[in-house]
Amino acid sequence: MATEAHTHEPVPVLSVRDLTKTFGQVVAIDGVSLDVYDNEILGIVGDNGAGKSTFLSLLTGYNQPDSGVFMHRGRHVRVSSPAESRRRLRIEMIYQDLAMAPDLKVWQNLFIGEEQTRWGCLLRTNAMRCRAREALERMGAKIGPDDVVEHLSGGERQLVAIARALLFDRDIILMDEPTAAISAAKAHDVLRTIRALHAGGKTVLLVSHRLEDILEVCTRVAVFVNGRITDVVGTEGLTVDRLLTMMFHTDGKIS
Ligand SMILES: Nc1ncnc2c1ncn2[C@@H]1O[C@H](COP(=O)(O)OP(=O)(O)OP(=O)(O)O)[C@@H](O)[C@H]1O
Ligand SMILES: [Mg+2]
Repeated sequence: MATEAHTHEPVPVLSVRDLTKTFGQVVAIDGVSLDVYDNEILGIVGDNGAGKSTFLSLLTGYNQPDSGVFMHRGRHVRVSSPAESRRRLRIEMIYQDLAMAPDLKVWQNLFIGEEQTRWGCLLRTNAMRCRAREALERMGAKIGPDDVVEHLSGGERQLVAIARALLFDRDIILMDEPTAAISAAKAHDVLRTIRALHAGGKTVLLVSHRLEDILEVCTRVAVFVNGRITDVVGTEGLTVDRLLTMMFHTDGKIS
């Protein structure tokens, strides 16, 4: 397989090659290679336990692969921690359980782990609140920087998580089941926000079991089966039935 970027082809913003991750006897990720391009919305689908969340955890540096390589804009990078993933891959993850500190205010959640600027100065509280307010307003969210997170709904927490990606200018936003635990109306808001991120030049990786959502917002979709990517296809003309076939009837296919 070619691993070098050719000048006449777009260089992927992110490439992984032959990633493998085992948990004891379980092979969660089994030789996964994938190119992700600037400003695409890439869907990731697969049955329960297919390896989708584990794959994202390798991209965020939360878990370390047993083997495999990462490239950011054609350059090899090492990702041994979430901080390195943020800094080197410019990735922001929005977690399935929307992990946040519920007793803290919105602006504090936005700046957790980011209190230092890239110049090494400690940001002042007022500056952080101000930047938080700006990011929330930019998204049209009716949430204030001083709102306490535990009083926010699931959809509103989602928006706070997305505001983090905007605030720190990440290239790639990973979302794991962002519409699973929220109402249809809020799910619509999340899809609208994904489109807004896309319009703002971001790349989004969206894991979802809601295949209609995937077909609605994604440009391409990668299908995971038993820890492998068995198909990567454009969504134009793709149907839910066809996707289901790829997810569940892959006999004879080689990844
Ligand atoms: N920390 C862990 N320890 C042991 N096994 C794990 C761990 N994390 C994931 N696994 C296993 O790895 C496999 C892939 O799990 P993963 O959570 O990535 O699937 P998924 O595609 O995200 O599924 P779902 O759609 O249900 O969220 C499963 O067999 C799971 O049990
Ligand atoms: Mg999962």
